[in-house]
Amino acid sequence: MTTNYKHWRYTTDKDNLVWLTFDKAGESANTFSADAIAELIAILQEIRAANPRALIFRSGKDSGFIAGADINDFARAKSVEDGMAIIRRGWDMFHVIAALPFPTLAMVNGFCMGGGVELALACRYRVALDDPKTRFAFPEVMLGILPAWGGIKYLPKLVGPTAALDMLLSGRSVDARRAKKIGLVDACVPLRVLENAARMTALEAPALHRPPLLQRLMNTAPLKSIVAAMARKQVAKRAPREHYPAPYVILDLWARYDGDPFAPPLTDPASPAALMQGETVKNLIRIFFLQERMKALGKASDFAAKRVHVIGAGVMGGDIAALCAMRGLSVTLQDQNAERLVPAMQRAAKLFKRRLRDKAGVRDAMDRLVPDAAGDGVKKADVIIEAIFENLDAKRELFAALEKNARPDAILATNTSSLKLADIGANLTHPGRLVGIHFFNPVAQMMLVEVVSGANTDAAIANQAAAFVRQIDKLPLQVKDSPGFLVNRVLGPYLNQAIRMVEEGLSAETVDAAATRFGMPMGPIELADTVGLDICIAAGKSLAAASAAAGQPATVPKMLEQLVAAGNLGKKSGRGYYAWREGKPVKGAPGAVSKELIDRLIAPYLKEAQAVVAEGIVADADLADAGLIFGTGFAPFRGGPLNYLRSKNG
Ligand code: NAI
Repeated sequence: MTTNYKHWRYTTDKDNLVWLTFDKAGESANTFSADAIAELIAILQEIRAANPRALIFRSGKDSGFIAGADINDFARAKSVEDGMAIIRRGWDMFHVIAALPFPTLAMVNGFCMGGGVELALACRYRVALDDPKTRFAFPEVMLGILPAWGGIKYLPKLVGPTAALDMLLSGRSVDARRAKKIGLVDACVPLRVLENAARMTALEAPALHRPPLLQRLMNTAPLKSIVAAMARKQVAKRAPREHYPAPYVILDLWARYDGDPFAPPLTDPASPAALMQGETVKNLIRIFFLQERMKALGKASDFAAKRVHVIGAGVMGGDIAALCAMRGLSVTLQDQNAERLVPAMQRAAKLFKRRLRDKAGVRDAMDRLVPDAAGDGVKKADVIIEAIFENLDAKRELFAALEKNARPDAILATNTSSLKLADIGANLTHPGRLVGIHFFNPVAQMMLVEVVSGANTDAAIANQAAAFVRQIDKLPLQVKDSPGFLVNRVLGPYLNQAIRMVEEGLSAETVDAAATRFGMPMGPIELADTVGLDICIAAGKSLAAASAAAGQPATVPKMLEQLVAAGNLGKKSGRGYYAWREGKPVKGAPGAVSKELIDRLIAPYLKEAQAVVAEGIVADADLADAGLIFGTGFAPFRGGPLNYLRSKNG
């Protein structure tokens, strides 16, 4: 017998087992919005009264189990009372589930996030689909909030504090096999037996999972406070409490109040209320929505590539090709001769080993990446990406030849950083086909990809390029063809300012410390060394006109010129502003960092961000913020440079 509710489906089968299917109305993924929770609470009363043999929660969506709470509810919360009411809702509901007098089980068929994990924790058993798409995570910490519906209390009890704190404090996900290994799920099974495994577990009701003795001890005094102190030290290495309070509150709440969000008084720093008053939550949630908006930019076209051809197997081309192969595309990689392809293939093998979970996955990705010195792949490719030397004549010649050999509907893309698209496409019969797909270094890590429209680029081609960027799981941002596009245009004057401050006598360490104190992931001098000082000079030159217009000095700083002349190019040559050892800069202690110093360092960044919006290089200020956060790592807790300026100026 089946009863349909708005978001839930309630079926009792012949064994008197209840299957409760979550199928959120009008949405592709299940989220615990206020109305979905209210409905579930009412249904739970009915189920309790019916007293079945067992209850199994399942998802009606193929995409996955449950994506967590509805972030919109948090975004709408205006006060601490609103926030605590949202917590109360889920906390109470999961306690009702945990107290049911018959076996309960969560059958997890894909992503299972935040509130989804908390539902699974409230059940006695969990069975997961053995598939890479099954992932368990508590991403709350990345939004500056915390899993207060029971996650902090019950995850450490189920899997032990070591694995639990790793998930709670980092937001990192675990797949189904890892979940089985740490005890988060009781079974991890293939699709064909999933339902049966869930049914049998619920009917047989085996003994409940317990973590090993040491992990149980770590969850009780006095070990608990030692574990918390050690974890706090680790967290402090990543981010200070004043910028990112959430992981600290999670630790305090676990260590001092056993994860009960209502136990501490609202004024206690361990209370979730401590998070609700600050700007960080608001800004991190803002970034979440901006990220969703960037993802949507890829939906303007239903273009889907199967084959990609990359020309130029250097730093960028080699890694772009590897990324595309890792994301499931068939890739041909071309360079001037076969020897030049070897390092790129070796780097690709390393990337696949690091990122893909099993040997078969690595082998398949390697099979999809084909070295192609002769350029045979051009004829069949849906997308052709050029990443050869930054030389206009060479690129122009290459594209003229490509246009003759490529399919008429293939996207012709350049990864150029500084050349004008209209110039590169000057010899094309159909210059509207040429678009910029501008990746950042290191390709595998940087989320942002700028999709550059030149004077002639067809809007439809730019939309196809954005769809392709989504296909390889990056965030596309449409920008106009103008020196430095968005990211390099804004970074240029900021790096310049930093270099000038060193020229004036401040130590590189002090300037870098000013930036990291502001919340940048890396100081600008270390960044310049990482990018390469020769590249910085070249970029500075191509940005000179824009810098002059924005009132920035356009000459190359002396010390920078001298370093490059002496062959000290930064990380890649082992010495730049810093000496580099084993890929790390050797740094001394920084000098005093004042607020004035920070303001002076950041000022050109902020000014340039405003200029880019005023000039219409990106569509609006929010997208500029998004691009600069995902392209330069601009202090996420500040919500982007333009958001920061707004909040600073009240
Ligand atoms: P690279 O010097 O590391 O690699 C260029 C490769 O292209 C070399 O392997 C070279 O043999 C090959 N090549 C040159 N002419 C060729 C031709 N006609 N046919 C086939 N292969 C040819 O250069 P990198 O750094 O990878 O830069 C490539 C492009 O990407 C440039 O347009 C650059 O502006 C852009 N870019 C570079 C970034 C970086 O951080 N290095 C970041 C973003 C864009």
